[in-house]
Amino acid sequence: MTDAIQKAGAGTTTVLEVQDLDVAFGKHHVLKEVSLTVPQGRTLGLVGESGSGKSTLAKAIVGLVKPAGGRILLDGVDLTHTKRTVAVRRRVQMIPQDPYSSLNPRMTIGETLAEALDPRRASVKAHRTEIEALLNRVALDGEVAARHPQEFSGGQRQRIAVARALAVRPALIIADEVTSALDTSVQAEVLGVLRELRRELDLTMLFISHDLAVVRHVCDEVAVLKDGELVELAARDALFGEPRHPYTRLLLDSVPDGGPLRTAG
Ligand SMILES: Nc1ncnc2c1ncn2[C@@H]1O[C@H](COP(=O)(O)OP(=O)(O)O)[C@@H](O)[C@H]1O
Ligand SMILES: [Mg+2]
Repeated sequence: MTDAIQKAGAGTTTVLEVQDLDVAFGKHHVLKEVSLTVPQGRTLGLVGESGSGKSTLAKAIVGLVKPAGGRILLDGVDLTHTKRTVAVRRRVQMIPQDPYSSLNPRMTIGETLAEALDPRRASVKAHRTEIEALLNRVALDGEVAARHPQEFSGGQRQRIAVARALAVRPALIIADEVTSALDTSVQAEVLGVLRELRRELDLTMLFISHDLAVVRHVCDEVAVLKDGELVELAARDALFGEPRHPYTRLLLDSVPDGGPLRTAG
């Protein structure tokens, strides 16, 4: 019900706004005046070669890297120079690349999700129904709540990481190379879950990948980063159909026919 109401508003308000963002590590200028926006309910893909600055942008948005210039606004609130409270930090959830180190091996899946749902009252018992619903959302059985991360495959762990991010009910999800460590068949499984979730929930997402075939699979719009500069930003079909920047064309040419994900894209 609420989903339907939220869906109706999709695309109308801006959740993330990055304005002229500069980041430097010493003399190394890693991001140069990067500007982009992600509207409510939309997924923006961010592509670019390794070292182009994608993860640095993600880290700046979550507050792990301090910008040298520019602004980062979340729901219209400037976060650039403010100290991030716990509440603000919960508004942006990052799904990290490595499914093997991102979940606490000492906690059961249920405990991890209970903590994400409510850090003050992280009780598996109290949140049993919600935990089961979250696991079902990522195509896992509610019973797995009693198990530990080590008992799962990489693809399953990534889906658990997605469930944990959803549990927080963030305004924005940042997925940084979430399928890069997985085999192609398992990639499709994780991407399938993300696509479903985008349809069912009103997710707003920054989806980062060096792999254009993967980005094509889940994004509404695509931004192309080259050596820290945004060289192109376009709707997905426009970018894949009629890339304007030579660098985007170069990246597209290196995709072997869209790969095995193409038919579903
Ligand atoms: N903490 C850091 N200190 C110094 N240089 C860094 C740091 N983090 C990233 N870099 C450099 O910034 C550039 C962009 O890195 P990164 O954002 O990780 O790229 P991507 O995610 O696109 O592969 C690289 O040249 C990398 O070596
Ligand atoms: Mg990276």
